[in-house]
Amino acid sequence: MSTQAPIRRITTTQIASRKGQEPIVSLTSYHAHTAAIVDRYADLILVGDSLGMVMHGMDSTVPVPLDLMIMHGKAVVRGTQRALIVVDLPFGTYEESPQIAFRNAARVMKETGCGAVKLEGGARMAETIKFLVDRGIPVVAHIGLTPQSSHVLGGFKTQGRNQDTWPAHQEDARAVTEAGAFCVVLEGMVEPLAAQISKDIPIPTIGIGASADCDGQILVLEDMLGLNPNPPKFVKTYGDLGAQIETAVKGYAEDVKSRNFPTEDQVYKP
Ligand code: KIV
Repeated sequence: MSTQAPIRRITTTQIASRKGQEPIVSLTSYHAHTAAIVDRYADLILVGDSLGMVMHGMDSTVPVPLDLMIMHGKAVVRGTQRALIVVDLPFGTYEESPQIAFRNAARVMKETGCGAVKLEGGARMAETIKFLVDRGIPVVAHIGLTPQSSHVLGGFKTQGRNQDTWPAHQEDARAVTEAGAFCVVLEGMVEPLAAQISKDIPIPTIGIGASADCDGQILVLEDMLGLNPNPPKFVKTYGDLGAQIETAVKGYAEDVKSRNFPTEDQVYKP
């Protein structure tokens, strides 16, 4: 019998119970070592499909394959102990039918060991969300600016600028709540709409480019670390990692070129 103490992670019900309480700290992560640092401070870590753009240089999240999400999901689960890990279902793996969504979501949960999946879409995905939740798969919904639909939305456009569109976004929020999502990401939405949705629904809202009144916030880690040369304009940067990496790599290159590396005491002696 194993005597190892089980890892106690933050649960989906603990996240759900944070509605109107202490804000939910969320960040993306795609990599075991950085996830271990994020894990000390974040309640929820998202292995987002933004990894296609951030890690793999894709133009959008549309080409991201399921296997890539699973590979990064495994790395982040391995690197963490405390946070709830949520893995994105990428474009094309859940929209066709609830059954296909279940098959792919179950694969993600089994192979990565994550605690929940996230999918994009409001009212149109409600049936699928209910199907997954009824069968044991916790779901984070994602409404507003949904990057997987950027080709239909006409790009990465802030949603709700025209107040006539608000009822549709509010209906999306209601529909995913009723379907059983335990929280919902509000992305790229005008502030008063996101604030109103946060008041309207009983599940936590997690904002990104939305409103300080959301129940939590999420950012793409590389954006807030200063690694993205063109971050979205709402991103507050907390680091200057791009410049630090540049300095370090430049110093290394200079050392190698001047034969200053490795130093005498670092070489292996026969
Ligand atoms: O893929 C991602 O990083 C996301 C966040 C922007 C919420 O979905």
